[in-house]
Amino acid sequence: MNDLAGKHIVLGLSGGIACYKAAELCRALVKEGATVQVVMTEAAEQFITPVTMQALSGRPVYGSQWDSREPNNMPHINLSRQADAIVIAPCSADFMAKLLHGRADELLSLMCLARPVDKVPLLLAPALNREMWAHPATQRNMAQLAADGAHVLGVGSGFQACGETGDGRMLEPEQLTQDIVAFFQPKLLAGKRVLVTAGPTFEAIDPVRGITNLSSGKMGFAIARAAREAGAEVTLVAGPVSLPTPRGVVRIDVRSAQDMFDATQPQALLADIFIATAAVADWRVANPSAKKMKKDGSGKVPELAFTENPDILAAVASSSRARAGELFCVGFAAESHDLASNAQAKRIRKGVPLLVGNIGPATFGADDNALLLVDEHGSQEVPRAAKLELARLLVAEIANRL
Ligand code: CTP
Repeated sequence: MNDLAGKHIVLGLSGGIACYKAAELCRALVKEGATVQVVMTEAAEQFITPVTMQALSGRPVYGSQWDSREPNNMPHINLSRQADAIVIAPCSADFMAKLLHGRADELLSLMCLARPVDKVPLLLAPALNREMWAHPATQRNMAQLAADGAHVLGVGSGFQACGETGDGRMLEPEQLTQDIVAFFQPKLLAGKRVLVTAGPTFEAIDPVRGITNLSSGKMGFAIARAAREAGAEVTLVAGPVSLPTPRGVVRIDVRSAQDMFDATQPQALLADIFIATAAVADWRVANPSAKKMKKDGSGKVPELAFTENPDILAAVASSSRARAGELFCVGFAAESHDLASNAQAKRIRKGVPLLVGNIGPATFGADDNALLLVDEHGSQEVPRAAKLELARLLVAEIANRL
């Protein structure tokens, strides 16, 4: 995707071993369509060379406030005026302290101080040893930096270069990229709570076998991500899929339709929006065997009896909160034919204001999809696009209807 097309990002590196990750971050930002201007402190140059960063960004790196390449000899002014955002990754403990005090004795801190606060956001990706991270001075500095208008992107947890294990290491380049992309998305669902179901369900026949379907969960995960990017608190109830959890989303893993029903009902009491993308099995095996069923050599096949699963969407849509307009419900319909008429009939049957139709076999497992939005006024086609793009569009449609 080109999620950062047209954006100009000034990527600042302060000194820390996480500088090696900044190379990958730079590459990822360029891949997303951004132009990247790298600025490095002298300490950062101890960890990675400007040559590497120049090659990856395709632009000469700045490192000194005395850089005479600028006709007016004011790189701190010029660089900060051109940026859509300044991202400091890694942001060292020392650099945080400098920002906090408004010090300006080298180019990067000087540029941050010179930035127009209302126009150029400052995003910080701290990278510290766990003791340094936990230190009251660091925590105090971060709180003050946030109060001064900086966006602190958080830290990762785990094995650290020093050999210790804990909080404080810099987020991975992929995570930072997602956070930066999210930062630029309009906050259409700020303050809203969104509940999403996604993926297939798995209905056991015995302890090793079961019945499932071809849903990959990609559309539901994309919707969870898009809702989070739009500023919502998002809970994702996921059937058995191995997709990574979108940044900032709370995930509850379930297996069967009944598990999904049980996990969803209490969450629906807290949500403002419910989006049911899961391909829930309509039936489950009535009497799953507690032990693995064995062939007896006679050629006789087992006879399976089925019972109907609860309808998660219909149950939520008929709750008192949904009927009172406190919970906006969106259904999906995976059809194989007659999409428009089937989807409209399903919308009415499920009792939801908005239903999203798609042709199941054409989209299951794919990274793109085409949608049909169906409401009481009729239907509207959304042409084939990447699922994340469609998810953002759907989020905007929902925000419009609230
Ligand atoms: N759904 C649900 N619980 C079920 C079945 C479906 O929450 N037990 C939701 C799906 O997540 C989707 C919508 O209902 O949002 C429609 O799902 P779909 O499988 O297309 O429809 P069905 O209700 O199964 O109807 P049919 O089998 O007639 O197509």
